[in-house]
Amino acid sequence: MPTNTDFEMPERILLGPGPSMVHPRVLRAMTQPLVGHLDPQFLRLMTETQELLRYVFQTENELTIPISGTGSAGMESGLCNFIEPGDTVVIGVHGFFGNRLCDIAARYGATVRRLDKAWGDVFSPDEIEAELKKQKVKLVGLVHAETSTGALQPMTQMSEVAHRHGALLLVDCVTSLGGVPVEIDEWDVDIAYSGTQKCLGCPPGLAPLTVGERARDVIRERKTSVRNWYLDLTMIERYWGDERTYHHTAPISMNYALFEALRQVKEEGLETRFARHRRHAEMLWDMLEELGLELHVPLENRLPQLTTVRVPQGIDDGAVRRQLLNEYNIEIAGGLGELAGKVWRIGLMGYSSREENIRLLAAALKEVMAAH
Ligand SMILES: Cc1ncc(COP(=O)(O)O)c(C=O)c1O
Repeated sequence: MPTNTDFEMPERILLGPGPSMVHPRVLRAMTQPLVGHLDPQFLRLMTETQELLRYVFQTENELTIPISGTGSAGMESGLCNFIEPGDTVVIGVHGFFGNRLCDIAARYGATVRRLDKAWGDVFSPDEIEAELKKQKVKLVGLVHAETSTGALQPMTQMSEVAHRHGALLLVDCVTSLGGVPVEIDEWDVDIAYSGTQKCLGCPPGLAPLTVGERARDVIRERKTSVRNWYLDLTMIERYWGDERTYHHTAPISMNYALFEALRQVKEEGLETRFARHRRHAEMLWDMLEELGLELHVPLENRLPQLTTVRVPQGIDDGAVRRQLLNEYNIEIAGGLGELAGKVWRIGLMGYSSREENIRLLAAALKEVMAAH
């Protein structure tokens, strides 16, 4: 590859499950001059980022920070800091990311009781409670917005059930944060994490995390040290807290991007943002149904920011996606796990959630489907 040519990537219309499109303001923020990770200006940006994160998570939790790493780093820190070998955890698995939670928890020595449901279904508090009655459980893990299925897990009563049985409630908000209401304090969620590349409209690279007092007590009472050095919150919080002690070099430019993306969320306002995601999702659903396509998740549990649509019989899933990308510059995704080859996943997240993108996709899909 010649090294004296400009490095250029195509400008795609990203309508998959993430990363979503990034506003030029956020991209520009990443080109700001680099400063040191203890520079007073950067420390100020950190404090403001924490305030903005509390706003999007709708929480007063002091320990609200972006973990360095993608959503999976958020997942891992949400588990490794609270699990000690021999603890029992209950994980609701109704898609690909519930499976990942089980895998990570087991690697930290937990006994994992998995509750399985059809991919696309959601759990009721009674189903969770029935499992909690059987044994002492340290933590219940649920995926709020399952990106592999397009289903939104209701959170009503989930914390009451977990807390009644002495368990912490951990919620994966990777795809939900910034797209649908995430009310950490109102729902009394103990630990929640997200990713920057979905409805926050930022590139992948950071994992917003918030931890409540009940969960912080569990960290304080640990008998063993956290088995993951990099994600050990007792050390990371000294950098994000008053001490500002070095732990690892913060990814400076990524933090600029998150800061700017969060400022945009605040400018738009959460309610307006949720309404925009909903309005555009409804446009998309109408458009897909007009094309004779069937949606995988019933309306009452359907996520606005990620729609799963069944691949019609006889249509080559991959060929349609390739054609959309090669001829129309549009990215949508195929199914994951047991939905592979059965659904397409269409994301309208953050800056991707715009009317013009839906119109473009509608026109492109119509032509591509006719050709197939
Ligand atoms: C619900 C959910 N959880 C966790 C993750 C993992 O995030 P990442 O791929 O950023 O590591 C994803 C990624 O798509 C996700 O959708």
